Amino acid sequence: MSKTFFIRTMGCQMNVADSDLVAQQLIERGFLLTENVNEADIIIVNTCTVRQHAEARALSYIGDLKKLILSATSATETLADRESSADPHKPKSRKIIVMGCVASRLKDELKKKFPFIDDVIPANEIEKVSEVLEKHYDCLTSNLSNKTFSEFVTITRGCSNFCSYCIVPYVRGPEESRPVIKILLDIEKLTNSGKHEITLLGQNVNSYNSNGTDFADLILKINDISEINKLGFMTSHPKDMSDKIIDAIASCEKIPHQIHLPLQSGSDKILKLMNRHYTKEKYLTIIGKLKKKIPDVKFTTDIIVGFPDETEKDFNDTLEIVKEVNFASAFTFKYSPRENTKAFFMKDDVPMSIKKERLARLNALLKIESKKDVR
Ligand code: 5AD
Ligand code: SF4
Repeated sequence: MSKTFFIRTMGCQMNVADSDLVAQQLIERGFLLTENVNEADIIIVNTCTVRQHAEARALSYIGDLKKLILSATSATETLADRESSADPHKPKSRKIIVMGCVASRLKDELKKKFPFIDDVIPANEIEKVSEVLEKHYDCLTSNLSNKTFSEFVTITRGCSNFCSYCIVPYVRGPEESRPVIKILLDIEKLTNSGKHEITLLGQNVNSYNSNGTDFADLILKINDISEINKLGFMTSHPKDMSDKIIDAIASCEKIPHQIHLPLQSGSDKILKLMNRHYTKEKYLTIIGKLKKKIPDVKFTTDIIVGFPDETEKDFNDTLEIVKEVNFASAFTFKYSPRENTKAFFMKDDVPMSIKKERLARLNALLKIESKKDVR
């Protein structure tokens, strides 16, 4: 009988894409995907640690799995499984695997905290999930599938930007661009399975470069594939949004006229402390060029409030630029210190009450801005 697996995915689109890849690899090895955690032989949790709150949620979910193991019986579990196990409540056939960014950050500490975890697999080693499961289970049949799950195509892995608040470079490792041919093969697989709208993924897609093919060359190439109707991408970084990329975006008719361009802060002082390598002026110049070339373009963004040393004036600079750009929507966050990042060693000196208050003011302004139609 085929073993079943369940995946719970937390966090960003990168994690969604990683979970899809793991699911695909497991299905190819004869495992069956289930939507029901209770009946799964293998429970995989793909975790996020980008902010403290995300990590706390992941840990709480893992903690709750203990109760599930105690109470539910998986579909293929037998009495003998339970009886032959050292822990009567956790049959040998039932495995719990934690992957993703919390796995990278806490590694074996996770196993100490939750002894019922079988394997901890870091975010940059996801191919190991199917390897370890092959070791655990020997009843594998090959059931090569062309099934694809989402429309995501990973073009870069990892990140080498080291924005001072961000833990991603530490948990996902340095940036690597995937070869063009691999990306095109992934796209072909998607179009063959009936998907015609794709989203290219990377922590900073604008710095893509594989043997001289840069992001502009790549999107122009993909835009030419007749089976593709819609071509999205995320996430862009203003520091690498070159004129060549702006021109390419404008000339690709399959790219929707909505661009996600994280701002993080509107204060040059804070942008420098964040190690973002652009100024408010540079950001506005990019927005201006894109608006000129794509008159109905809309922008979405990410903004952090309460970064160390953010004064009322710095925060007002952020409010000003929000008004100037007229964002369609934004993901907004209170700064959350992440261990061993550069900002972790700065004083987290904006009190929580002020972070909350600034976040509320920012969100109120964004709401007004998103309703305005300036065109
Ligand atoms: N605190 C708050 N927000 C953060 N982000 C990343 N790291 C932190 C942090 N330590 C936000 C950024 C990023 C988004 C994915 O999460 O805005 O663009
Ligand atoms: Fe984090 Fe900056 Fe890399 Fe984005 S570009 S993942 S914010 S370090």
